[in-house]
Amino acid sequence: MTVATAPGKIILLGEHAVVYGRPAIAVPVQQVRATAEVVNLSQAPPGEVRIEAPDVHFSAWLRDTPPTHPLRLLLRLCLEELRLKEFPALGLRVTSTIPVAAGMGSGAAVSVAIIRAIGQHFGRPIPVGRQSALAFEVEKLYHGTPSGIDNTVIAFERPVHYARGQPAATFRIAKPFHLVIADSGQPSPTAHAVAQVRQQWERQPERYEALFDAIGQTTESACRAIQEGRVADLGPLMDHNQALLEAMRLTTPLLRKLMEAARAAGALGAKLSGAGLGGNMIALAMPDRIAAIETALRAAGAVRSLHTEVRT
Ligand code: PMV
Repeated sequence: MTVATAPGKIILLGEHAVVYGRPAIAVPVQQVRATAEVVNLSQAPPGEVRIEAPDVHFSAWLRDTPPTHPLRLLLRLCLEELRLKEFPALGLRVTSTIPVAAGMGSGAAVSVAIIRAIGQHFGRPIPVGRQSALAFEVEKLYHGTPSGIDNTVIAFERPVHYARGQPAATFRIAKPFHLVIADSGQPSPTAHAVAQVRQQWERQPERYEALFDAIGQTTESACRAIQEGRVADLGPLMDHNQALLEAMRLTTPLLRKLMEAARAAGALGAKLSGAGLGGNMIALAMPDRIAAIETALRAAGAVRSLHTEVRT
């Protein structure tokens, strides 16, 4: 049996604007992971793949899945990558502790874990850059215009400064800092949120271009603050990014309530993370406020929260 994993991720700043060519920064979240296990099946004919994904109560033979199923594309891409004509019969089991549709990259992490497991299973580990590229192809099935940030940060497992068309760059975190991540429990439908922004952008191109520019500038300022160890400067920049996302109508009353609770409990800044309309928010926390912020977030309605230290 071959086992491989991939982490979750969180976007620090720049979501949505990144779809329109502006920069975004994201970090891996190692506490939550997707895991893929691959085994040879002796009793089935070559080419057959049995998929088990107990977390989502999914169990099927690949051939019985619809032609548009993401795993079909993913396994075909892996086959081509390894220059194999056909897989022997395989069992593929996928599990994940990454909340689904919550802005933590669960889809991309599942793809990367599978790509890693398949490569290792055939004794030919797939290079990280290719893992990212293959996962990107699958991301396109989820929503037509992914920026590519999820697959990049998850495959490289490093803080990433990402802008479409530029090589992904990792950046130095001069001074580690702490984030509390809290899940609103409301699903964050990436495709829907991205489509909503596109519609608004088509209606009001100048206004949206200006919003994207402002998000891009805020992201660059935050990236500099992180590289220079100015952690306290990061809070107001997160708040400003949040105000811009609010102007794009991506916040919900519950997300707003969570952000207010976090700030009242001492967070230096807070914003939604990912596609919005639900999903996760993040709060920048000094170490002595982490517990209080988590308690406040749960009391305000977060279904779960976790704390992560962001370091290079
Ligand atoms: O919610 P997530 O993790 O799928 O992140 C979406 C981030 C967007 O910028 C809204 C879309 C994208 O492709 O970058």
